Amino acid sequence: MRYCLQIIAVITALLLALLSRVGSETPAMCSVVQGLPGLNGRDGRDGASGAKGDPGSQGLPGSLGTPGLRGNTGPPGKVGPKGNQGDKGENGIPGMPGLKGEKGNSGVSGSLDHDLNIQIFDLTRHISSIVGALRLEGKIQAAGGKMFASSGAELDFEASLAACKAVGGRLATPTNEAENNAILAFLKQYNRYAYLGIKVGDIADQFHYLNGTSVNYTNWGNNEPSSKGKEPCVEMYTDGHWNDKVCNQYRLTVCEF
Ligand SMILES: *[C@@H]1O[C@H](CO)[C@@H](O)[C@H](O)[C@H]1NC(C)=O
Ligand SMILES: *[C@@H]1O[C@H](CO)[C@@H](O)[C@H](O)[C@H]1NC(C)=O
Repeated sequence: MRYCLQIIAVITALLLALLSRVGSETPAMCSVVQGLPGLNGRDGRDGASGAKGDPGSQGLPGSLGTPGLRGNTGPPGKVGPKGNQGDKGENGIPGMPGLKGEKGNSGVSGSLDHDLNIQIFDLTRHISSIVGALRLEGKIQAAGGKMFASSGAELDFEASLAACKAVGGRLATPTNEAENNAILAFLKQYNRYAYLGIKVGDIADQFHYLNGTSVNYTNWGNNEPSSKGKEPCVEMYTDGHWNDKVCNQYRLTVCEF
């Protein structure tokens, strides 16, 4: 029994000791000294992204649209009259791109155009080679847009006119120095004089072209014209100068085309 009491006393002592330890940690029982303020905390991290916003309001109307595209060239037409070109497309309405233009009327077939171009090209090439060959042989002379030729025949003025007309030409009529020189080449080649397509008019010494227009180029020799209208035709010498002459002589026929 004594032994038992001793154990109880020890346990009680231990319990007391424990209790006293707990009590010493109670703040109210501590003496309080005011501490320094704590340091500010660091900034928080970024928040999560917000929700998607509402759709924006409708935009303003666009500016004046560009004109519509020109209509396409029509499909190749059947052989027939040439079609008109398609109208240009209408302008676009404001705020929108222009409407595409109306399709063009059926026009000249592209392939026809192409074929014609090739034919014209070939013709031009053939004609210039023929002209080249004839010029090489001195059969024709070219000046500006005119070509001159002679058969070598010697005829009076009226017969020369008719001979040129018969082959679709006119009696050679120089209207500038280049043309005069082109005609002169035949005179030198045949060593003959030639009548020109110039004649005196109603007024003596007033020479004009056969269509009635007054001459705008002359190459008279010294003191020519000299006959005051008694020699109503004009001949060219082998030096290129002109002389008024009666019309019934036989002269080299030179035509122009
Ligand atoms: C008249 O003939 C000349 C010489 O051939 C020519 O230069 C002129 O252009 C012609 N005039 C008219 C109006 O046909
Ligand atoms: C004369 O007029 C023709 C066109 O009718 C022209 O070809 C020629 O060069 C003119 N000559 C002169 C000298 O002005």
